[in-house]
Amino acid sequence: MKRSEVNRIIRDGEVFVRQHGFFLPPFASWTAQDWENQGPQAREIAQHALGWDVTDFGLGEYAKKGVLLFTIRNGSLENLRAMKGKTYCEKILICGVDQLVLHHYHKSKTEDIINRGGGDLEIILHWADENGRFQDRDVSVSCDGVERTVAAGGKVVLTPGQSITLEPLQYHQFRALGKPVLVGEVSTVNDDANDNFFYELVGRFPQIEEDEAPYRLLMTDYARYYKHGAAPKAGY
Ligand SMILES: [Fe+2]
Repeated sequence: MKRSEVNRIIRDGEVFVRQHGFFLPPFASWTAQDWENQGPQAREIAQHALGWDVTDFGLGEYAKKGVLLFTIRNGSLENLRAMKGKTYCEKILICGVDQLVLHHYHKSKTEDIINRGGGDLEIILHWADENGRFQDRDVSVSCDGVERTVAAGGKVVLTPGQSITLEPLQYHQFRALGKPVLVGEVSTVNDDANDNFFYELVGRFPQIEEDEAPYRLLMTDYARYYKHGAAPKAGY
């Protein structure tokens, strides 16, 4: 993706988030210069890969297949193993109308996907088998404490305020219907480097073509701008 495209997506995303009455933490507004000036006190943000994250899954059609994310908080796998400290993660995602977050599942993470406002959010569900293929069996999920069962490939539509709990090995693909959706995600610790399994062979983090200066840094930019550490490439 070109940096100019990433900058535009984040600028538009900031306006959208504000319009929905949601407020992001201070580091959401830090510039590249702010990051260069940060001391070791801000290490948690870089090491836990908090902040802006955008993907077009390497397909170059962001409006059709892509998503803007912001990771607000995230613990570590160490915490999760010890059941101490931050064992959780929270993100927001901005999903455009008919813009797909492609079929994927997680082996470790259990996540709640929440419609925090905008249009409706359609989620397509399958169980993954041990080879990552779709299974032909019903999928049961919890939607705000109420169990729902759909056939393989069936959908659940979340109106604003509704949420769904996705267990490990439950494939999910989603898109906004009618209007863009501010999506919340509350989950166990998130490991984007190792715990995303896509149905199609796609990428998670785009290569950035630097055609202008960054408006905000992506979590993948910290290694270049922040002197005091970044998330290890494989897991954190
Ligand atoms: Fe997911």
